[in-house]
Amino acid sequence: MSNEQQVRIYNPSEEMVKNAAVSGMDGYRALCKEAEDDYEGFWGRRAKELIDWKVPFTQVLDESNAPFFKWFADGKLNVSYNCLDRNVNNGLGDKVALIFEGDNGDVTRVTYKDLLARVSKFANALRGMGVKKGDRVVIYLPMSIEGVVAMQACARIGATHSIVFGGFSAHALRDRIEDAGAVALITSDGQHRGGKALPLKPIADEALSLGGCDTIKNVVVVKRTGGDCNMVAGRDVWFHEACASQSETCEPEWVEAEHPLFILYTSGSTGKPKGVQHSSGGYLLQAVLSMKYTFDIKPNDVFWCTADIGWVTGHTYITYGPLACGATEIVFEGVPTYPDAGRFWKMIQDHKVSIFYTAPTAIRSLIKAADNNPAVHPTKYDLSSLRLLGSVGEPINPAAWEWYYQNVGGSRCPIVDTFWQTETGAHMITPMPGATPMVPGSCTLPFPGIQAAVVDETGTEVPWGQGGILVVKKPWPSMIRTIWGDPDRFVKSYYPADFQGKLYLAGDGAIRDVETGYFTITGRIDDVLNVSGHRMGTMEIESALVAHEKVAEAAVVGRPDDVTGEAIVAFVVLKGPRPTGEEAAKTIKELQNWVGHEIGPIAKPKDIRFGENLPKTRSGKIMRRLLRQLAKGEDVTQDTSTLENPHILEQLKG
Ligand code: WT7
Repeated sequence: MSNEQQVRIYNPSEEMVKNAAVSGMDGYRALCKEAEDDYEGFWGRRAKELIDWKVPFTQVLDESNAPFFKWFADGKLNVSYNCLDRNVNNGLGDKVALIFEGDNGDVTRVTYKDLLARVSKFANALRGMGVKKGDRVVIYLPMSIEGVVAMQACARIGATHSIVFGGFSAHALRDRIEDAGAVALITSDGQHRGGKALPLKPIADEALSLGGCDTIKNVVVVKRTGGDCNMVAGRDVWFHEACASQSETCEPEWVEAEHPLFILYTSGSTGKPKGVQHSSGGYLLQAVLSMKYTFDIKPNDVFWCTADIGWVTGHTYITYGPLACGATEIVFEGVPTYPDAGRFWKMIQDHKVSIFYTAPTAIRSLIKAADNNPAVHPTKYDLSSLRLLGSVGEPINPAAWEWYYQNVGGSRCPIVDTFWQTETGAHMITPMPGATPMVPGSCTLPFPGIQAAVVDETGTEVPWGQGGILVVKKPWPSMIRTIWGDPDRFVKSYYPADFQGKLYLAGDGAIRDVETGYFTITGRIDDVLNVSGHRMGTMEIESALVAHEKVAEAAVVGRPDDVTGEAIVAFVVLKGPRPTGEEAAKTIKELQNWVGHEIGPIAKPKDIRFGENLPKTRSGKIMRRLLRQLAKGEDVTQDTSTLENPHILEQLKG
């Protein structure tokens, strides 16, 4: 490594080391050793200490049906009780739980006592509709107090929720409702984003009309934007009306620790999203433990995770983790660029946020905005309340890390670069803010108790300094339990036979630093793209494209993008002649909108190129590596001798 490239190491401040839950590297190593010496004891002790159990568990880990692991299986609890009642019982009833800031800047504060009452009312309303333990409820809501309330209410009555991100299309919503066999849908008339009111209920209505949603008996509609809203008699009811006459108390449903708290759909390498099923007890334990260890949450903190509740980050670090810790947190309806790109910084200033957790793509877009308009530069705001920063969703490039560290954190706040996944439920590899020396671009070392490794195709660990496949060697409490309705796919995807079914396959490549053993994630090893921290399967986008009447064939790849991390590039063969000029531009728009309508705006290809064919081997296999080079605008340097039709490369250059 040359001098110019010398990595900089940032040590946590003495004050952080002194006060943090995990104090110094000695503290971190002691925890790791505790887990190594007595794995079940490590998790069992924390599960007893951090969770209130109705029926205590007697067994920590049941491996008898691996890889369908069970944690704390004979214990009973209620997740909503742990997030709400126990805080009220501990004297935190008047503490603010949620600070909701609307798109237009209006602020609503909800105390723990208020939140418990709101959740209880809605839980009673759901029960009144006949929703019961084990039923699935799909939630299609914008960022809102009601979104958190709906999730907590499901948890309270033992219904399994499945959130569908508000940016997904009617088709995507229909597919998820159908796969989950949901009995109820909770949505809103619309949402406010960036100063605009966007309708949501019409999309929900379209989804329900597409067929396959006969299981839905009730649709509950939150009134947010106002104005006309189609309500189907006998099926649709307003949220506020459903809650109006309900009692403010609601006996929780005590469920087994393994009871599915939620299903969350995520992209894999086939066209069909996977319903990742999570548990109640194990999931809650790691939500709480990571709030304590990674975020070092303290009673006076104001915590802000900018994720949407439609993603796992919003589940673990908005709805469950912070509330189970009795924290005060921000819930933000809007976007980082409205009314201007200083919105995040202004909100940190106004609400005295102390812990701020966001995505690299947001940071990169705000760097650009601040470069163009000094008035929205973070240093123009009073950000002195901050004491800890976090990053999640994709690798953070060192330049963005440094900018975040200096300009947002005032060179005083540690940054936790947290690697994890929908499937892992909570942080897996991350610095401990009062212990781990930080290296920009590296997520550093495993969370205490997590045993991560980098292996080759046979599952053998590779030496540090050599790239390989990221795996987890032991089951952990908040791990995925199965894929809803498809246990075979669960085993094949995550415990493949190549590793004798013994290692959890994350789907990412990684490399460990030769000296420190620090992990750096090198990107997905499957056909999954990461666009603005959102997971998109290339197959899903290809399926959407070929569903268009004009499209004969399509191949989708990613290319690096300054702001979104990766950008979607589609190579398309039309049924008719290859379009050029105006005609091509028109067709590109048409296909982009089509994909937006089929999946959602986040899946729209940024770049679409037309060819008379795709580059294929003589056996007809699409040469994706070659497409990736073309997508980047690079000259094709690799061997094209096996290529059946070399002349089409010229057409696809873009
Ligand atoms: C994929 C999981 C975890 C919540 C948000 C995304 C990538 C996530 C990091 C990080 C490098 C990261 C991985 C992972 N990823 N965090 N800190 N450094 N890569 O959840 O949609 O399930 O995506 O996001 O590729 O596999 P997800």
